[in-house]
Amino acid sequence: PAIEFGLDAPFTIDYHDSLPSTNARARELAAEDETDVAVVANEQTGGRGRLDRAWRSPPGGIWLSVLCRPDLPPAHAPVLTLAAAVAVTEIAREHGVEAGIKWPNDVLVGDEETKLAGILTEMEGEADRVSWVVVGIGINVDPAGLPEDATGLRAHATDVDRRAFVQDLLERFAALRADPEEALAAWREHALTLGQRVRVSTGDGTIVGTARDVEFPGTLVVATDNGPVRVHAGDCEHLRPA
Ligand code: BTN
Repeated sequence: PAIEFGLDAPFTIDYHDSLPSTNARARELAAEDETDVAVVANEQTGGRGRLDRAWRSPPGGIWLSVLCRPDLPPAHAPVLTLAAAVAVTEIAREHGVEAGIKWPNDVLVGDEETKLAGILTEMEGEADRVSWVVVGIGINVDPAGLPEDATGLRAHATDVDRRAFVQDLLERFAALRADPEEALAAWREHALTLGQRVRVSTGDGTIVGTARDVEFPGTLVVATDNGPVRVHAGDCEHLRPA
């Protein structure tokens, strides 16, 4: 309940000290017809990342999943992932952390481009409208014990109050989901990928070229020797500098 977590957020807070995965819990709530709930856990014992990877989620991180039922076709739902990446980036920047976004939805920090946060969006629905979307957001806080290519908020900011961070994050996300144009514009502003030579692996093959733009609802436009190629966020397995 919201009161226990002490938040006045635009979502009901479903807080747990420990969960297997906040995304799994949010999917259960979706089956119970709940909406606009943010599931928050201090620790996850079975956190999931993209492409079926495990997501390390020790106590003291920010592990949360927002369940909502937007009036969107499934094909447009990636814009919510973009909005979440923008919200994480902007609140991190407000804490003095030099965060930026690597397409489609990794939040990286500094010249080293170590990973601060990742987003895993799941959804269900018909062709014309989703019945629910779960946007799962994982933000590393304590840098101890992280792999070399990852970082945590406290490596870059001394004053991190997780409750205030989550509250600000949910408010920003709520504002951005109501304004997809603004979310896309802000995404471009925070993008690390645009203008870079990239190699994108998809299930269908590899695309090499210069990342030119991100179009609604989150599609990367790569200028290749054979002209522009569009890659859907969900099809990206890896994006690396080329
Ligand atoms: C990625 O692979 O980059 C996405 C990581 C997403 C992790 C978050 S933590 C909260 C939510 N619950 C999960 O099990 N995964 C997401």
